[in-house]
Amino acid sequence: MARLVIVSNRVPVPRPRERPQAGGLAVALKEALATRETLWFGWSGQTGAATGGDPALVTVGQTTYATIDLSTEDYRLYYTGFSNGMLWPLLHYRMGLAEFRREEWDGYRRVNTAFARTLKPLLRADDVIWIHDFHHFPLAAALREAGAKQRIGFFLHVPFPPLPLYQALPQGNILLRELASCDLIGTQTAPDAANLREALRGAGFDVPVRPFPIGIDAEDFAREAEKAVRGQDARRLTASLSGRALILGVDRLDYSKGLPQRLRGFASLLRRFPEHRGRVTLLQVAPVSRGDVGQYRTLRRELDELAGRINGDHGDIDWVPVRWMTRAVPRPTLAGFHRIARVGLVTPMRDGMNLVAKEFVAAQDPADPGVLVLSCFAGAADELRGAILVNPHDPDEIAEGLNAALVMPTSERRKRWIDDIAVLRQNSAAAWAEGFLAALARIGAEPLRAGAR
Ligand code: ADP
Ligand code: F6P
Repeated sequence: MARLVIVSNRVPVPRPRERPQAGGLAVALKEALATRETLWFGWSGQTGAATGGDPALVTVGQTTYATIDLSTEDYRLYYTGFSNGMLWPLLHYRMGLAEFRREEWDGYRRVNTAFARTLKPLLRADDVIWIHDFHHFPLAAALREAGAKQRIGFFLHVPFPPLPLYQALPQGNILLRELASCDLIGTQTAPDAANLREALRGAGFDVPVRPFPIGIDAEDFAREAEKAVRGQDARRLTASLSGRALILGVDRLDYSKGLPQRLRGFASLLRRFPEHRGRVTLLQVAPVSRGDVGQYRTLRRELDELAGRINGDHGDIDWVPVRWMTRAVPRPTLAGFHRIARVGLVTPMRDGMNLVAKEFVAAQDPADPGVLVLSCFAGAADELRGAILVNPHDPDEIAEGLNAALVMPTSERRKRWIDDIAVLRQNSAAAWAEGFLAALARIGAEPLRAGAR
């Protein structure tokens, strides 16, 4: 079997005793890779004097992680600036939050060229290259420029907006042309694929773009949850609830996740359905993410204030309605928290997939499962039909969804959970990766790439 070369901005190099890094890409890919020789190339997560240099290598089993540092300047321009300050809001339909700066555009493209030049000498002729996410739209073209002839696939973990929105990106056609150097492009959902295909075609490129909804290892997560629920943290949480129903939110602290909307929805529940007052607790775990980007710092302040206000308005001497934590919690511990929760509350304003929604379902006790209240704007909403779908723009709709979940009889909860877990079991992380790579292997590079040159 050909070696797989993965390229992503974030590389989960195993580092003992380090806090877990939240983020769907690393989680999904790591789960998918157990079975083949892999080189995983990307950013070390560190900044140094210069971008590039000799990659640091760490080998664990069949996977070698090769990482390079970014210069402080490139971190600012490529990661904080263009990737997180421009592309992230654009791709999540939030143009109002996007800021375009020519020097960041230049930095983004320069870092991709540096990635290509550093990676090229590490490549073998029969490698299959799989590039991940919006940090690396120009990379396939930069690799071709450096002489790479290997088959190249690309997977977009985040949404792709409709063409008129994408057209707000200055010089956006250049990124499409560079992306068109890939042999196959995968997206999370069919609408994302349709949007990206339309943008590529509009710019004159006919690359295959197909949906490959990302999966999780549901059995494994269920085992973690079953074990963790007997652990110390889960027992502390259960004891502290004093019999109250737990509503759980788990996210990176990101404006795409609809966190203020979620808190307002919870406040609306307490106002409009007073029978739940004193009987429910919302635990929101949201570790700080991309703290160097202004919009994320503003969001943090807004949430601190909102959580404080809800507790002030509704709390009692023996009841704190919102528990608000901004540090990461280890995955196994989280799995146990999901199993304890009566309701999983996942309210992104727009999300490629949202693995947390799938993890919540996987972690449930089959005899007494909790209910997922899920935004209709998460990619996962296409698959998890047992969830109560809500529009997060309306706090009252979130409140109604929460109320329906809290009063739902066990038989109905079980029925919904059985439907959803069946979907998850059909599409593990490994099956998702194999599906994409099999499709990439089937593509006859020459005719399909003809229009892309
Ligand atoms: P994104 O990729 O935008 O962060 P996803 O929901 O797709 O969103 O993936 C997030 C992944 O990171 C999940 O596997 C989840 O378990 C993990 N994660 C999210 N929030 C936390 C957190 N608060 N603590 C630890 N892990 C988290
Ligand atoms: O899943 C989407 C994504 O942007 C990944 O590419 C990324 O690794 C993850 O979210 C977390 O973001 P970051 O790497 O910027 O912390």
